[in-house]
Amino acid sequence: MCYVLDFELLLLIKVCKFSEFPRPFQIINYLFFKEVDKRNTYSGLHKKKKKPLHSMQLFPNFATKTKNAKCFGKSKDMKNVIYYFSGTGNSLNAARIIASMIGGATLVAVKKDTYSHLATDADRVGFVCPVYEWDIPEPMKCFAEQLTINNKAYVFMVATYIAVHGRCFETMDSILKEKGLRLHYGRTLRCVASQCVAYEPFPSPHFMVPRSDRHARKIAKEIAAKKHNNYPRMSVITRKLYGKMMQPFMNVQHEYDKGFYTTDKCIGCGLCQRICPTKNITFSNKHPVWNHNCNGCNSCVVYCPTKAILFKTPEAYEKLDNAVTHRLGLPDNRTRYHNPHITAKDLISDGEEVVSGGLQ
Ligand SMILES: Cc1cc2nc3c(=O)[nH]c(=O)nc-3n(C[C@H](O)[C@H](O)[C@H](O)COP(=O)(O)O)c2cc1C
Ligand code: SF4
Ligand code: SF4
Repeated sequence: MCYVLDFELLLLIKVCKFSEFPRPFQIINYLFFKEVDKRNTYSGLHKKKKKPLHSMQLFPNFATKTKNAKCFGKSKDMKNVIYYFSGTGNSLNAARIIASMIGGATLVAVKKDTYSHLATDADRVGFVCPVYEWDIPEPMKCFAEQLTINNKAYVFMVATYIAVHGRCFETMDSILKEKGLRLHYGRTLRCVASQCVAYEPFPSPHFMVPRSDRHARKIAKEIAAKKHNNYPRMSVITRKLYGKMMQPFMNVQHEYDKGFYTTDKCIGCGLCQRICPTKNITFSNKHPVWNHNCNGCNSCVVYCPTKAILFKTPEAYEKLDNAVTHRLGLPDNRTRYHNPHITAKDLISDGEEVVSGGLQ
């Protein structure tokens, strides 16, 4: 939503500043010759199929939404745990890549009622989530506050984003400080911008997904080595703009999902209800109803099998009357991007996922 403006302001600076962003000649290559970097592993781009990145087992019955605290690290060798939140799959994909390269890990989906976990036996604890409105998503914040962590653990965070990470690392670090811990390592991971309710997802997934995967593998190597760093801080400009640009949106956020509606393409399959990480969707007359507890993750929109969900600017947002609210809307022909490695089933699963892998 509101980060769109910021994106426009900062994109030029970012293009030059960050090495992981496509360089101009690569963009030209892609636009004019449809050439992509041949080092990628995104199978959709290759005629030759590559080996999958990791093997994994799903344990759907090992519920994470239980109120009873779970303890990690009891199973032999599995002392890495990664908590992730993901709407369109970029963060889950990154979490899987990292898990497969740090000797395996238990992945836990953070959803509305995932709480009271104990990571007291884990010796590497990670958080992987998107940046929303220059911060971490609310469910991740609440979850981290409830979490009990081994005070000798190495703690890392990877934030998937497109342009402005804002204060997401500071937020996590301050939550950890309350527990007598700190964030040892924090990195941003640039991915396809998934806010299709405001714009066509960009850069092109064919271009960006392989790059993000490669960058995730670099990050994973550092995490495997338990590298410490000074995580990226909120810039002075963003700090100054935060109150002015974000606050009006924060004040009306509970009205956001009033913009969602379905067309007659809706087949009443219920997938949107099952995939919503904030359990915000119920059903009435075989059609979804949004219950004003939405954080705009777009999972329901992009995984709907018939593209039946559309969006019109809610009244409260219209009243804000600014450049961002004017951009809100979801035309029928807008691409519904989700990470190509992540299926709806992956995100619906409430279970823990054990990803095996070697140490890099
Ligand atoms: C509601 C919403 C808010 C977002 N806010 C930001 C932001 O403030 N800064 C940014 O760089 N990207 C922002 N993005 C882009 C996402 O952080 C990015 O696409 C991320 O990789 C999505 O992760 P996921 O696929 O795991 O959900 C936002 C996306 C959404 C849907
Ligand atoms: S996922 Fe789409 S088709 Fe299925 S119930 Fe929801 S809106 Fe309807
Ligand atoms: S209602 Fe849709 S956009 Fe909102 S949190 Fe649920 S899945 Fe995400």
